[in-house]
Amino acid sequence: MSKPYIAPSILAADFANLQSEVEMLNSSQADWIHIDIMDGIFVPNISFGIPVMQAINKHATKPLDVHLMIEKPENYVEAFKNAGADIISVHYEACPHLHRNLQQINALGCKAGVAINPHTNVQLLEDVILNIDVVCLMSVNPGFGGQKFIENTFYKVRKLKEMITAANSSTLIEIDGGVNVENAPKLLEAGADILVAGSFVFNSDDPQDTISNLKSV
Ligand code: DX5
Ligand code: ZN
Repeated sequence: MSKPYIAPSILAADFANLQSEVEMLNSSQADWIHIDIMDGIFVPNISFGIPVMQAINKHATKPLDVHLMIEKPENYVEAFKNAGADIISVHYEACPHLHRNLQQINALGCKAGVAINPHTNVQLLEDVILNIDVVCLMSVNPGFGGQKFIENTFYKVRKLKEMITAANSSTLIEIDGGVNVENAPKLLEAGADILVAGSFVFNSDDPQDTISNLKSV
């Protein structure tokens, strides 16, 4: 796997043809499959849950990157691990005991991620940065695909990259929301490692070609 890692978001796929959508990603240059779980409480939308995750896992040959936009994620991480999750991200804003959440995810054998909303300062992660495998920087407000990229993200990526380098940590930076071939080069230049892309991939004429284009920006 070479960088940047590309993680298409299945949220933008055709759910009536999930198997063929997953197979399309299997034979593409995608590195991970990004799975958006929304509970209608932490975010104002509901996506899908564990049975759909199991259905994806039945066909996927790539690591499953699960983004939990839910309250009380500690009650569900084990179920998501059992449903095939390789990376599990919880939201900073939903976790008063974040360090414990990270320990729980690691103990399950998954990579531990923390997602932060656009208004959340990256500095708040400083004291746990060595415990985080992936920071998922939200470049839109979580809850919906197809939103406009928030430009302040470039500044946040640079600040986060500085913090990771200063701590000599191997934490990866993932960008989620409104990613396309126009903002991708600038994100990578600022220090991003993983690009999530939903509508830009699935609404394009040739999703596999779009994934290759993102991979080679
Ligand atoms: C937003 C989700 C994103 C979303 C990305 O709440 O976390 O992963 O699916 O979709 P696009 O690329 O369409 O913004
Ligand atoms: Zn996401």
